[in-house]
Amino acid sequence: MKLPRGSVLVVASHNPGKVREIKALLGPHGIEPVSAGDLNLPEPEETGATFIANAELKARAAADASGHAALADDSGLCVNALGGAPGIYSARWAGPTKNFSIAMARLEKELRGKTDLTAYFVCALCVAMPGGEMRIFEGEAHGKLAFPPRGEKGFGYDPIFIPDGLDETFAELDPGYKHSISHRARAFEKLLHSGLFTEAM
Ligand code: IMP
Repeated sequence: MKLPRGSVLVVASHNPGKVREIKALLGPHGIEPVSAGDLNLPEPEETGATFIANAELKARAAADASGHAALADDSGLCVNALGGAPGIYSARWAGPTKNFSIAMARLEKELRGKTDLTAYFVCALCVAMPGGEMRIFEGEAHGKLAFPPRGEKGFGYDPIFIPDGLDETFAELDPGYKHSISHRARAFEKLLHSGLFTEAM
């Protein structure tokens, strides 16, 4: 399974923050990402029980619908004191209007009185080929939560997540720097080192 340079790769996401990050990560590698939103592809329901299962179903749906290789990212924030919640429900905690102020306020409320504020982001990437082949790559970024939310950059839960070793939240960091240390960056590092993008099919 190989993707030659110059190939079209559908980014199977309707989340503009994620698509922006994925385009920035793939740009330097000669791959032309097109988003599922730009192609008007339908957004499948995330019925999987794990990040990997959801990444697989999104990538498979986009590859089948477009006839191109597709890349899906399923990611989320896991909070240790909440047994890993919101986890695969990270986007759904923000409700139909995708309002992350609501999701972050809910986390603050559920964590009131708790001393363990450690948390980690998970990213599962799936590359699916139109013919049926699939590859999975995973990455994590560990840190702790801090309230109230701080910073204007990034998206989702970035304003409350402080990665290990730093004092700023993901939303206060320079986006280029976040892209070098995030869960998504770590999963992409594995994808880029897999050889998938370098040789001819
Ligand atoms: P899904 O993978 O589309 O189901 O959505 C994952 C959700 O997890 C996003 O909508 C965000 O709320 C959250 N998330 C994933 N990655 C990040 C990140 O890098 N920063 C902040 N929030 C994230």
